[in-house]
Amino acid sequence: MRSPWRSLVAVSLALLSSAGSLLANYSVHEKRTHIPSGWALNRRHNLTSTIPLRFALKQKNIEDIGNYLYDVSHPKSPNYGKHWTATEIVRTFVPSNETVDIVRSWLIASGIGRERISLGRTKGWIQVNVTVEEAEQLMNTEYNVYTHMSGKEHVACEVYYLPQHVQPHVDFVTPSVHFDAKLTRRSGGGGGGGGSAPPARDIGQPGVGNTPKTTGTVSGIIGELEQCDKYITPICLRTLYDLFYDPVATDKNSYGIVEYTPQAYLDSDLQMFARNYSADLIGKKPYLVSIDGGYAQTIHKNFSHNGESDLDLQYGMSLVTGKQTLTLYQTGDLPEGASFNDFLDAIDGSYCTFEGGDDPTQDGIYPDNLPGGYTGPKACGTVKPASVISTSYGYNEADLSPFYAGRQCAEYAKLGLMGITILYSSGDDGVAGINGSCLNSSHIPSADGHIFNPSFPGTCPYVTSVGATMVKPNATVFDPETACMEVIYSGGGFSNYFAMPEYQKNVVDHYLTNYRPDYPSTIWNSTGTSRAYPDISANGANYVVAVDGEFHLIYGTSCSSPVVGAIFTMINDARLALGKGPIGFINPTIYSPEFACTFNDITEGSNPGCGTAGYNTADGWDPVTGLGTPNFSKLFALWLLLP
Ligand SMILES: *[C@@H]1O[C@H](CO)[C@@H](O)[C@H](O)[C@H]1NC(C)=O
Ligand SMILES: *[C@@H]1O[C@H](CO)[C@@H](O)[C@H](O)[C@H]1NC(C)=O
Ligand SMILES: *[C@@H]1O[C@H](CO)[C@@H](O)[C@H](O)[C@H]1NC(C)=O
Ligand SMILES: *[C@@H]1O[C@H](CO)[C@@H](O)[C@H](O)[C@H]1NC(C)=O
Ligand SMILES: *[C@@H]1O[C@H](CO)[C@@H](O)[C@H](O)[C@H]1NC(C)=O
Ligand SMILES: *[C@@H]1O[C@H](CO)[C@@H](O)[C@H](O)[C@H]1NC(C)=O
Ligand SMILES: *[C@@H]1O[C@H](CO)[C@@H](O)[C@H](O)[C@H]1NC(C)=O
Ligand SMILES: *[C@@H]1O[C@H](CO)[C@@H](O)[C@H](O)[C@H]1NC(C)=O
Ligand SMILES: *[C@@H]1O[C@H](CO)[C@@H](O)[C@H](O)[C@H]1NC(C)=O
Ligand SMILES: *[C@@H]1O[C@H](CO)[C@@H](O)[C@H](O)[C@H]1NC(C)=O
Ligand SMILES: *[C@@H]1O[C@H](CO)[C@@H](O)[C@H](O)[C@H]1NC(C)=O
Repeated sequence: MRSPWRSLVAVSLALLSSAGSLLANYSVHEKRTHIPSGWALNRRHNLTSTIPLRFALKQKNIEDIGNYLYDVSHPKSPNYGKHWTATEIVRTFVPSNETVDIVRSWLIASGIGRERISLGRTKGWIQVNVTVEEAEQLMNTEYNVYTHMSGKEHVACEVYYLPQHVQPHVDFVTPSVHFDAKLTRRSGGGGGGGGSAPPARDIGQPGVGNTPKTTGTVSGIIGELEQCDKYITPICLRTLYDLFYDPVATDKNSYGIVEYTPQAYLDSDLQMFARNYSADLIGKKPYLVSIDGGYAQTIHKNFSHNGESDLDLQYGMSLVTGKQTLTLYQTGDLPEGASFNDFLDAIDGSYCTFEGGDDPTQDGIYPDNLPGGYTGPKACGTVKPASVISTSYGYNEADLSPFYAGRQCAEYAKLGLMGITILYSSGDDGVAGINGSCLNSSHIPSADGHIFNPSFPGTCPYVTSVGATMVKPNATVFDPETACMEVIYSGGGFSNYFAMPEYQKNVVDHYLTNYRPDYPSTIWNSTGTSRAYPDISANGANYVVAVDGEFHLIYGTSCSSPVVGAIFTMINDARLALGKGPIGFINPTIYSPEFACTFNDITEGSNPGCGTAGYNTADGWDPVTGLGTPNFSKLFALWLLLP
């Protein structure tokens, strides 16, 4: 994605260096608006110090990634299901020789000796050690040293320039403005510990992101179908979504759920749940894959720490049955935690080493030198990705810079190309963002904002975003569900960063034509050209979950995502048993007219927020429940017909 800062200001510089002798036209390449919270400007950097400059080169063909993905994911495409290998992905997106040559020639012309310049093994980066003085001349900038309240130092600049002919070939330069992001994440405020932790750990922090809510504990539930309006147990979900399937290809199949430390599941809770509601899980554990020191910590035990993971695993494991091993990707150590990028680095070595761009204010940095931190090497392409991966955490889209969000979104597209289904919960605050925050007129999430605040990664067009429904009070599982309006509201709306993908154009146009919200265009992205979410939904109310030795009632899109993940995993099972491949990126398929009947359309309820009633559900797709809830039998029947 292009940085919005580029080309805003053009300045001409005089001779850069005596060897350069080129009067190049320079423009702003990236610029930061303010210093991220927790950091303070300490001093101007020493001009004679050396810094390792790295130029992230523009990837070849990256603008076509959506088309490539469509080619292997659209049911009408002759290449449907012909997923790519990791090598094909590297080869396709490796920067072109022209890109390498232009950047290298510019450096040489600017007086950097050819022998000092090195090209990364995968050609993703050009690296050169320069003095601060050289770097400042090359990019017309000033380098400073910033200090975090934890004592950590970081070298950065506020803005930098590149020659106009070089700009199209460089994504970004490090070190530079990256702290990056809009740097407006709530980190000082409420909850847990306070003080000196680096902000990177926010993603997995209890209470941050879309962590589920509870209304307290319950006892004496029998788990019968008559009570599904009050207590959701596995049998309710199986009946709602027609999921009665006994897996057979379990050794070939895989389902992964991602958790961020300090969130952790408890074995004793899983067993308590198993004894009451899922006897086939008795004695079973998830297969724990530790990423960057992740482990199922038991130091902190309460609902905030165990609720999310207990929920995800109890329902994810129950619905794929005890025969299918579930992979738990436990990510991040206890002191620092981790981000989506740390997980992505672990499952894709090319993302980790070749595209780079992790951001110390957003992502966990390993090895971690905090007390008790993980001192081993950062996981980089060492973890095998499962065929379906569900994550019930999220950001406000506006908390990330367009560059950061775009880079991560392209990575989801690459995983889709490899045949992996990526699911994210859509958020629990309706049209508002995390903790009910809305955007103010500077497009920054704040308590007094009133502009709708979409959630990421749900707004990335290359993931499947999952909203929440519920069984109406006094209704049964055989009645239509409504949008979830108990305790939480299903996250949904329109991105401010990502354009509308082709696959959803017809159904979103239908919504905007027939049910257009009459809010002023200043509070929602009314352009009709931006990515709309969620894609689908599933029940997210009244889940009975064993947490810390008691059954809690839990609410949230956090419930919905692992449930649909289990359903798609069972479809993969049936396909694998027939010698077919996994379903991969599902959106072009589920939005196709042939699949229109496979989802139960939700037409009641809405998703309030930001002082409004939010969007309304409607017939067909809507920005509350997407296409609706899945019917496994119907999906199964149609997906077995696809190659
Ligand atoms: C700088 O830009 C101007 C106008 O865009 C152009 O005429 C000139 O040739 C450029 N100079 C160099 C050195 O690229
Ligand atoms: C800058 O670094 C050089 C070499 O490391 C050192 O000799 C010099 O004293 C430093 N200057 C300042 C102002 O820190
Ligand atoms: C790019 O350069 C490498 C070596 O520098 C060469 O082997 C390769 O054939 C070139 N590729 C193209 C498309 O020209
Ligand atoms: C830059 O310096 C570091 C540390 O001295 C060294 O490991 C690295 O190889 C150098 N990189 C280049 C491109 O010269
Ligand atoms: C969420 O909002 C409440 C009050 O509205 C506030 O006390 C709390 O600090 C906020 N939490 C976060 C993580 O922003
Ligand atoms: C869980 O414990 C943390 C401290 O470890 C505390 O800040 C938080 O409020 C607790 N949450 C609940 C729901 O008790
Ligand atoms: C799901 O689809 C099957 C097959 O068409 C149908 O028999 C069943 O009633 C549907 N189940 C639900 C819960 O909608
Ligand atoms: C079910 O859970 C309850 C706690 O609510 C527990 O006391 C009981 O032993 C469990 N049932 C079985 C069969 O383990
Ligand atoms: C929006 O909120 C941010 C953070 O609270 C604040 O710095 C900024 O001034 C606000 N903008 C407006 C227009 O109120
Ligand atoms: C559900 O049924 C109970 C008992 O019949 C009744 O008191 C209650 O009002 C009903 N609730 C709704 C929302 O219809
Ligand atoms: C609406 O979304 C489009 C892209 O989808 C974006 O270009 C535009 O800036 C967004 N509008 C606002 C006000 O953010």
